[in-house]
Amino acid sequence: RGGGIASGLILSSGIHSLLSSCSSQSSTTKIPENNTVARTPNPKFIPDLEINLQAAPKTVQILAGEPTQVWSYAATLVKGDPTSLTAIPDSYLGPIIRVQTGQRVRVNFQNNLPQGQTSIVHWHGLILPEDMDGHPRFAIDPGQTYVYEFEVINQAGMNWFHPHPDMLTGQQAYAGLAGLFIVTDPEETALNLPSGAYEVPIVLQDRTLDANNQLLYLGSKIGTPRNSGMGGMGGMSQGNSSQSGNGMGDMSSMMGFLGEQLFVNGKPNFTLSAATRVYRLRILNGSNSRIYKLAWSNGSPLTVIGTDGSLLTQPVQRKYVMLAPGERVDVWADFSKLKVGTELALNSLVFSGAENVGGSSMGGMSSNNAPELGAAMTLFNVKIARTETETLKLPSKLAALPLLRPADATNAAQPRPVELSLQGMKWVMNGQPFEMTTATPQETVKLNSIEQWEIINKLNPGAMMDAKGMAHPIHFHGVKFQVISRQVLPELAAGWQTVKDGYVDEGFKDTVMVMPGERVKLLMKFEKYSGLFTYHCHTLEHEDAGMMRNYRIQG
Ligand code: C2O
Ligand code: CU
Repeated sequence: RGGGIASGLILSSGIHSLLSSCSSQSSTTKIPENNTVARTPNPKFIPDLEINLQAAPKTVQILAGEPTQVWSYAATLVKGDPTSLTAIPDSYLGPIIRVQTGQRVRVNFQNNLPQGQTSIVHWHGLILPEDMDGHPRFAIDPGQTYVYEFEVINQAGMNWFHPHPDMLTGQQAYAGLAGLFIVTDPEETALNLPSGAYEVPIVLQDRTLDANNQLLYLGSKIGTPRNSGMGGMGGMSQGNSSQSGNGMGDMSSMMGFLGEQLFVNGKPNFTLSAATRVYRLRILNGSNSRIYKLAWSNGSPLTVIGTDGSLLTQPVQRKYVMLAPGERVDVWADFSKLKVGTELALNSLVFSGAENVGGSSMGGMSSNNAPELGAAMTLFNVKIARTETETLKLPSKLAALPLLRPADATNAAQPRPVELSLQGMKWVMNGQPFEMTTATPQETVKLNSIEQWEIINKLNPGAMMDAKGMAHPIHFHGVKFQVISRQVLPELAAGWQTVKDGYVDEGFKDTVMVMPGERVKLLMKFEKYSGLFTYHCHTLEHEDAGMMRNYRIQG
């Protein structure tokens, strides 16, 4: 099928398209009859794009030998331009939904996961009404359908979507449920950035497979088929998972999951077979916990044109780029001066010594004796395979962003504090674990107000090793923000340093990594939609263990 991006990639095995015969062009929504509908379509809503999206177990060939059981989003187009729904080539991840700002989208989400796996889709990065946003309180049971209907008001940027049920997000995302939601707008189109085969989605994830090629999550097998009579084995059944959810006193939940192998777009040993051209690499850290320090193997700086929620106003260069779970970075990769035959790699560098995320080695302490969080690794290779003539130039100006000034905030003198700390074996925000009830102590902000928030990642100097402090990527639903300052807490001075130079804090973001001992100020405007939203740590094991809070935008 046409319209697929990244067709220049070397494919290691046959295509497993997620898009099962995208032929149905009927304009009426068909909800399978055996499914109960948790949120029904509004007949007055006329979508530009309508998609059926099903979360279900699937068997895929990732490695030679045994096929691997995953959970995957299968998408079919009901209405709209076929280029709006494509697959990540040769991947169980995806699909890629691509829309224009202002378009109206209906997604009929059907949960066909094994028993006990409630689920809901969060459109990470999109600004949406509360009942479209995937707050865990809207999670539906297997056999149910939730109808999303929304207008895309975001500007151009690469967002993504993944499950968001209470305490089950980590295992569902790990099992393979993640897709991309790319927004374009006329301003971006006018820039004439690399597109088609030259625009490559890169989803970074770390995975551990057992001897039979089955995914292991916190020591248990995933993908036990439904109707197996077992109701899901290991950590994947509701019973067990809520145990590990509630009993998140266990070490692995505190430290986060680290896989043994690096996957790009759902497979190991990813290679980009490239021409002597400029590529636009749209990189998502879709890992549960692992943080990357991205750098080119030939020492070239990374040229960054966008982050989470937008293009930047102008390109920036970084020797390396820190990318925490949930964050995205849009990279201008110019291979036009390289010779055919050149090989290079995008690596993740070691976080050396004190700049290590935990302030100490992760080895031995982490789940599954996984490699260190800060270990050096090759993420993927690039082989320059053919000559083509490049005509594109890096624009000196990108997007005209409606950036706010720090003084625009009503509380500029006293930012709203969010303290990250360890309580027992649980990471919490402002001293309390997440509660589903809307009566939870929560922050309330006014619709259309501008506020500064300050994330303070406290240290626990008396604790052992990594419990002294960890990096936490903090993600907000319902709002985009600017990062306006990073400061080091005084207690960090004694022997610890924090990562420097690797942040891309320009532009609009929805997820920000806060290093241990760091305080980071955010500036945000709560525009457009009132309602109850959440913000949380995007280390999914932390989120599942309750490192999440509700906040209300009061209309
Ligand atoms: Cu990507 Cu609330 O998460
Ligand atoms: Cu965290």
